[in-house]
Amino acid sequence: MSAEVGTYESVWQASVDDPEAFWLEAAKAVDWVTAPTRGLDARPPFYSWFPDGQLNMCANALDRHVDAGNGDRAALIYDSPVTSTKRTYTYAQLRDEVARFAGVLAGLGVVRGDRVVIYMPMVPEAAIAMLACARLGAVHSVVFGGFAPHELAIRIDDATPKVIVSASCGIEGKKVLPYKPLLDQAIELAAHKPEKRVILQRPQAVAEMGPDDIDWAEAVASAEPAAPVPVASTDPLYILYTSGTTGMPKGVLRDTGGYAVALAWTMANLYDIGPGDTMFTASDVGWVVGHSYIVYAPLIVGATTIIYEGKPVGTPDAGQFWRVISEHGAKALFTAPTAFRAIKKEDPKGALLGEYDLSGMRYLFLAGERLDPETYHWASDLLGVPVIDHWWQTETGWAICANPAGVELLPIKPGSPTKPMPGWDVRIVDGSGQPVPTGEDGAIVMKLPLPPGALPTLYNDDERYVQSYLSTFDGFYLTGDGGRIDEDGYVYVMGRTDDVINVAGHRLSTGGMEEALASHPAVAECAVIGVADTMKGQVPRGFVVLKAGVDRSEDELRAELIAIVRERIGAVAALREIAVVPALPKTRSGKILRKTMRGIADGLDEPVPSTIDDVAVLDALRPVLRKE
Ligand code: COA
Ligand code: AMP
Repeated sequence: MSAEVGTYESVWQASVDDPEAFWLEAAKAVDWVTAPTRGLDARPPFYSWFPDGQLNMCANALDRHVDAGNGDRAALIYDSPVTSTKRTYTYAQLRDEVARFAGVLAGLGVVRGDRVVIYMPMVPEAAIAMLACARLGAVHSVVFGGFAPHELAIRIDDATPKVIVSASCGIEGKKVLPYKPLLDQAIELAAHKPEKRVILQRPQAVAEMGPDDIDWAEAVASAEPAAPVPVASTDPLYILYTSGTTGMPKGVLRDTGGYAVALAWTMANLYDIGPGDTMFTASDVGWVVGHSYIVYAPLIVGATTIIYEGKPVGTPDAGQFWRVISEHGAKALFTAPTAFRAIKKEDPKGALLGEYDLSGMRYLFLAGERLDPETYHWASDLLGVPVIDHWWQTETGWAICANPAGVELLPIKPGSPTKPMPGWDVRIVDGSGQPVPTGEDGAIVMKLPLPPGALPTLYNDDERYVQSYLSTFDGFYLTGDGGRIDEDGYVYVMGRTDDVINVAGHRLSTGGMEEALASHPAVAECAVIGVADTMKGQVPRGFVVLKAGVDRSEDELRAELIAIVRERIGAVAALREIAVVPALPKTRSGKILRKTMRGIADGLDEPVPSTIDDVAVLDALRPVLRKE
């Protein structure tokens, strides 16, 4: 447990009454090379935490546990039903592997501040590469394996990495997906050419190597271990690109010290996980949940983390999460609601659960998308443990709202991720920034400064940071989510108010998909909206207007358009439905009425906006939107 004891209310109040004192106290859970004497460096609208502190993230995650005599404790368990592999790394083994891989990177000239792109499946080497960067003070940028070469190229050009670390293939269910050709294609597309690529060869699809490709195993065999490099608390640990409203993703920057302190606080106080406990976070290292709760947070506190390579369902069955929890004695499972909906679909009565002993499981944590009450009740009845919904964003690095199990478990209200965590001063405002009455819907904003762990800015783009998050309401961070706060202070997050959608817990930009569709020569204009889906939460639907004179088979055209999105963004975009329509409804100023379209598609009773130019166009589209 951390130093803050008491009730939720007293802890939260202390964090807003004196944020510097609160977080300097929390900072004691981290090992510093130079302990911070100051909490916050405020240069509005920019803020940074622990400005005079120095530390190394990797040393906090690994070395300090080995040095304290816990080198034999399990640090990381790799469980891969798709390759029938299970492997455990102790803290000492993981520290040594990471130190050697850091030696490989150092040998390639990677130094503090250099960027390294990591494009890998869910194998331990992904975490090893991340921690090795942290050891050197280099900045990693992990790109989710489901993104296509075009998306990878955009990130390479923005991050300008010295080295890329990748693997020969990923495995999705029964499919082996060669990664190396995708990487080669991305480098060809990118203007920036990284000097070297380190490739982990996997036996399922061995990659053909080029002159700039280095074999992971060979390089590690001859590498000298590298020591942790002390960095400033404010030094960047990573860049994680996330979808914004356009095709150009936002490079969310994460600092080192603030992030370490916030994560350590959450492990004790939110997740109730400490040294020797096992946490099973079923996500992907390519997402923020993977960065925070597969890699850094469990290791910072000396717990055991699990890298699970597989899906909740399919290979071999929908009982895999239960198997992993029981075999490895996990105290908590953390995943996205969509995973539970997928399990429920395959095994509605939870029969497979009966095959396993889950007596060690204390909590289920869910995040990444709205937890619908039906899924909440199903999971809660099935598992008989607290089901804790919590709300956060790539930008925030950890939960904005949650139920702090380690402090005090508050009564659960299905549909709400409970209350703000320390440092998050959450408000609901109307379009002009005025607070709305209790219980009414509005935009969710947070008063600045944000607590440690939240993004200090966007990589190389202070202007976009200010414009995207800080310029709408002075002194407040705009979340992009809409919702309300009830009379008990519970926050309800109802969904995005911008063009970001959430498909199977994956954050995607409809703007990016529109850019892909618009690149087809037959398309005059298009719109992509996210519509409700019982399994994935939301799925994208596309609507295209063809150029005059285009006379093509609609089926053929649809197939081409779906292929373009898959090729440009990746399979993860999951755009499967495209309708060819005569026109799109617009406002008088020419803005496509995406929100109205979305409401109609979701079966809501959408009023016709007063700004609409041509009601007939909207009326003609209604049956298509409703699939009548
Ligand atoms: N590498 C390559 N391709 C990938 C990939 C990866 N890492 N991840 C997904 N894909 C591909 C899938 O194979 C699929 O391809 P297909 O169209 O050829 O079948 C496509 O992208 C869509 O994937 P997804 O949206 O994940 O759908 P799915 O049907 O394969 O799986 C779920 C659905 C719900 C089981 C899965 O999304 C899931 O487990 N999600 C919950 C956990 C999670 O990751 N949350 C993230 C934030 S916490
Ligand atoms: P990401 O940046 O991928 O983590 O996605 C962040 C977005 O996912 C948020 O802005 C929300 O729209 C949504 N989200 C995440 N967690 C929750 C939750 N518990 N409840 C509702 N929405 C959520």
